[in-house]
Amino acid sequence: MGKPIVLSGMQPTGKLHLGNLEGALRNWVSLQDNYEMYLCIVDWHSLTSDFDHTQDLKERIFQMAVDYLASGLDPDKCAVFVQSHVKEHAELFLLLSMIVPIPWLERVPSYKEKSVELNLDSYGFLGYPLLQAADILLYKANYVPVGKDQLPHIELTREVARRFNHIYGNVFPEPDVLLTKFAVVPGIDGRKMSKSYNNDIAIADSPEETEKKVMKMITDPQKIYKGDKGRPEICPVYSLHQIYNSNYQEIYKGCTSGELGCVDCKKMLASHINSNLAPIRAKRKELEKSPDKVKQVLENGEKRARARAQATMQDVRKAMKLE
Ligand code: TRP
Repeated sequence: MGKPIVLSGMQPTGKLHLGNLEGALRNWVSLQDNYEMYLCIVDWHSLTSDFDHTQDLKERIFQMAVDYLASGLDPDKCAVFVQSHVKEHAELFLLLSMIVPIPWLERVPSYKEKSVELNLDSYGFLGYPLLQAADILLYKANYVPVGKDQLPHIELTREVARRFNHIYGNVFPEPDVLLTKFAVVPGIDGRKMSKSYNNDIAIADSPEETEKKVMKMITDPQKIYKGDKGRPEICPVYSLHQIYNSNYQEIYKGCTSGELGCVDCKKMLASHINSNLAPIRAKRKELEKSPDKVKQVLENGEKRARARAQATMQDVRKAMKLE
C-alpha cells in the first residue's frame, strides 16, 4: 500500500516570511515522512490578481523554492514543482468548468471580499477556487494541508469531485483538510504577517535586518516606560516569543510585573528568532549560490507530478468518453 497523497500549493510571492514558515513549511516538513507529497507553486493562481506583474515571476518562484529546501523539505520525499509547467492543470480546470454552476463560485467568500477590495472582475479570478480544485483532484489527493481561510475552497473541491463522480463515474477521492494548527503569526504592525502589508520578517533577512524590524514592532500602547505593567496577551512581540522563546513564561512575568521593558524584551526576541533561523539561513545562502541545483529539484518534481497528472487525466478522459 502506498502512502496517502498530500497536495498543497502556495502562490509565488518570492522570499517567504515567518508566517509562511510557521503556518505552512514546518507543517509540510513534519508530514513528508508519512505522506506522498506534491507541493505546487501556483503561478497561474497569482495571475488571477497579479496578471500585470510578471516581470519578476521567475525570480519569485526561484526564491520560494530556495526557502522550501532551506526549511527542510526533502526533494526525494516531496515533488516540488511549478503549476504552469504541468499543463494537465489547465485541461482539468477546463473540463471541470463545464460541470460547475457559476453560483458555486460566486458564493465562495474570498470571491466576494476580494473582488470588491481589489476591484477584480475577470473570468479567471472567478475561477480561482476551481483552478485550486483542479490542482488537488489532478493528483487524487487524500489530504490538503492548509489554514482555515482555505476551508471554503476545499469544500468546493469536494463538491466538484462529487458532481464529477456522479455524472461520469467514480474517478476522484474527496480530499480532506489537514488543518494547520499554528495560530496567525503577527507582523511587525500587529496585523497578520503578510508580504502585501509590508510587515513581514523574511526567512532571508539578515540577523541585523531582523533585529531592526523587531525593534520597530508595536507593543502594548499602555506600556510606555519600563516599570509600567504590560499586557502580553495583546502584544505581538509576546506572540512571537511564544513561538520562538521556550522561556516565554518568563517574558510574561517580566512584562506584567513591569520589571521587563519593551526594548530588552524585543532584543531577546530578535536573538531567539535569529538563533532559530540560523541553520535555515545558512542553507539558504548555499542554495542561492547553486541555482542549477534548485532548478534540477523543480524539474524532478515536475516529472513526478506530470506522471501522476497524466494518469489521472487518462481516467478523466475515459470516464468522459473523450478517449
Ligand atoms: N489558494 C491557496 C492559498 O491562497 C493556494 C493554492 C492554490 C492551494 N492551489 C492550491 C492550496 C491547492 C492548497 C491546494 O493559500
